[in-house]
Formats: sequence, structure tokens, C-alpha cells
Amino acid sequence: MQVITTRAELQAWSDAERAAGRRVGLVPTMGALHAGHLSLVETVRAHADRVVVSIFVNPTQFNDPADFEGYPRVMEDDLEACREAGVDVVWTPRVEELYPDGAPVWVEVEGLSEPLCGQNRPGHFRGVTTVVTKLFLAARPHVAAFGEKDWQQLALIRRMTDALGFGIEILGGKTVREPDGLALSSRNVHLGPVGRKQALRISESLSLAQQRIDDGERSRSVLLEAVRKKLGEATQARIDYAEFRDPATLELAPERLEGPTLLAIALQFAPDPDGQGADVRLIDNRVLEVR
Ligand code: PAF
Repeated sequence: MQVITTRAELQAWSDAERAAGRRVGLVPTMGALHAGHLSLVETVRAHADRVVVSIFVNPTQFNDPADFEGYPRVMEDDLEACREAGVDVVWTPRVEELYPDGAPVWVEVEGLSEPLCGQNRPGHFRGVTTVVTKLFLAARPHVAAFGEKDWQQLALIRRMTDALGFGIEILGGKTVREPDGLALSSRNVHLGPVGRKQALRISESLSLAQQRIDDGERSRSVLLEAVRKKLGEATQARIDYAEFRDPATLELAPERLEGPTLLAIALQFAPDPDGQGADVRLIDNRVLEVR
């Protein structure tokens, strides 16, 4: 496995692979790799001859400097995980390489970036789409994969890739969960024991909504009330949002649900009452089947 730090070296490597007729796949990450990332590696590998994993904690997508500082950084473990997973190249650019001067150039997707996480995290998605553009231009992949847990991010990247004509196939990776249902996230390490238990209310709410729909309920407001009640049991957390939306356009779902509907949830956890854990925001998503 090669570890590359500069953009020029990665571009040269990718150009050589492409010239040799090999397909290049990219898994963009911010490190602290878990089974969810490794399943994206597998997803990409099924569509490419070479797999690149980028590890870069992108400062422009954090609107809270403390969140950026506290983001887990475990490079040696990450490199080992990539080696074991048979990754061909790990790209670990420095901040100055991707943001070389003080006159920033942004890539922004209007509309899709505004609801849900866009509401309380101003500039977050602009940071994501800008850095993903830079990662794409450096790795020049044929295919790239992003997790469905961050559904809004995936929708934005699909739209951006299409609109800018990158010619890159975007794959969505199924959410990987702990045995008890909690979606894997690099941020889970910040939960204290109480927060960790209460975080289960998120996946339980997603299942509850599907169950109620399977039982015949179609009213968005009735379902929302049930979901909010379940989420309210997480007393360590504040509901950032819980919304039913169209999975493709992210527009608010109609009052009477008629087709596949996204249930998007974000909870902001405070540290446990005894001080264990830290502030942590968890998100989860599920496309509900409505027949
Ligand atoms: O999902 C993430 O880890 C990040 O938002 C991404 C796509 C790697 C961009 O920094």
C-alpha cells in the first residue's frame, strides 16, 4: 500500500493507472475509520481495479472550531485498517495543499444544502462540496462511494457530480450498525455510557416509523408525533431535527405519505450527568417503504 501526501503525486499515480486501462475508485473519509468506511472500500472495489482512500479532516465543513479540534485523529490505526482491507493508496493531504491561499474558491449546491443539517450548520455543506471537488480533481476516480447514513450529503454530491459533469459514478453504501442498531460514526466515541444507551432511541425511531407505516399509518404528522415521543426518551439529547422528506429532492413529504419517504434525524447530545462523554451530534436516516 502506498501512502501519498501531495496532490501532484496522486494525480500522476491516477493518470498512470487510467492510461493502463485500470479503473480507479475513491473512498473519501475524515479518518477514524470504522466498519462503515471499510464497507465503502468493498463497495468501490466491486467497481474498480484500484482503491484510493483519502484521509483528511476538512476544516471548512466544521462550523464549530471545538468540533474540528476534538474530531478523532488516529492515523496509525487508520493506515493499518487500510492495509488490512487491501487498499492500494491512502492519500493524506495537508491543509495547505488543499487550501493553499487566503482567497477561497467555493463549490456550493443551492437548495439541497438548505434544509436539515444545512439549517443549524451554516457553511457545512459548502465545505463538503468544495473539498469533495478537490478530492475528485486530485484522485481522478471513475467511481466514488459515500455512506447513506449521511443521506443529505450523498444527495448533494450526486447533484454536484451531475451538474459539474465530473463523469464519476457515485455509489451509496448501506449504513453499517452496531448489533444494537446504533449507526456507526466516528463521533460515537464521544458518547458517555448514558448517552450511548440513549442514542439507541434514534434507530428505534426509524424502525418505529416503518412499523407504524406497515400497520397502515400514512399521516406524516401522526408519525412525526410518535417519532418525537420516542426521541424524547433520550433525556441527554435535544432534537435538532426529525423530518419526513422526499429522498431525492429533500422536499417536505406530503401530509399523506404516498411513496418511499426519507426519515431524517439529528440529535445533539450533552455530556453525561457525571461529566463523562462530550457534546456530540448524531445523525441517522432511513428511506421508509410506503406501499
Ligand atoms: O463524510 C465524510 O466523512 C466527509 O464529509 C467527507 C465526504 C469525507 C468530506 O470531507
